[in-house]
Amino acid sequence: MSTLDDQTVGELREIAGRYPEARSGLLPMLHLVQSVQGHVTTEGIETCAEILGLSPAEVSGVATFYTMYKRRPMGTHHVGVCTNTLCAVMGGDAILERLQEHLDVANDETTADGAVTLEHLECNAACDFAPVMMVNWEFFDHQTPESAVDLVDRLRAGEVVQATRGATITSWRDAERVLAGFEDGRVDEGPAAAGPSLAGLQIAGERGWSAPATDDAPAGDRSAAVPDDSATEAADAADTSRAESETVVETSDADARGGADD
Ligand code: FES
Repeated sequence: MSTLDDQTVGELREIAGRYPEARSGLLPMLHLVQSVQGHVTTEGIETCAEILGLSPAEVSGVATFYTMYKRRPMGTHHVGVCTNTLCAVMGGDAILERLQEHLDVANDETTADGAVTLEHLECNAACDFAPVMMVNWEFFDHQTPESAVDLVDRLRAGEVVQATRGATITSWRDAERVLAGFEDGRVDEGPAAAGPSLAGLQIAGERGWSAPATDDAPAGDRSAAVPDDSATEAADAADTSRAESETVVETSDADARGGADD
């Protein structure tokens, strides 16, 4: 039975209309399909293909390439445990194992009550907060097996849960609608950058370091971007000369290849 009603089809067309090349809208369109149907359905693939003038095979190729697109129905909440290198050695593997036992599910399965789909994730680019989990793509930092069990229990009980860095948790479908480009007004809810992520900025501030000037710096900002003496000394102390010479070599090689290809 079709569940993509006229409003949803209209919103899919609206997304496609946001881009000079309509097919550029495919990724957010698939997120919208997921927000309505709970996964990327055959109907969703065919509808996106029709709107964009693509073949269903082309759309299916995208939907099966990226892991954020799900081909099986999802639970109310998507709970991801990072088991990439740093998180794994900091406890991610133990967290995943404990949750699989506690929820009685294997990887990529949904609990019997439909509340939680558990998945192990690759690096979430939050290694400085390892081990990390994500609920509906919101961060939960410095987790332990015990805190992870408490987190999923609170989700299943319908309690209000606040991400460590991010918004209050709603549902996976609600989050998918935001990823489709339909804001829910909560973009500024909760802290974003914090703690270890800001350590480098804090050290730079204490030592008076600033970023070097670049050709891309807007006019008027140049003076602020020019390193002062202390920044230059610090750069010397950090011995960046080797990295800079390697960068030059890489650029030269790339230029040479580009010239050859031309
Ligand atoms: S390894 Fe887990 S966030 Fe990078």
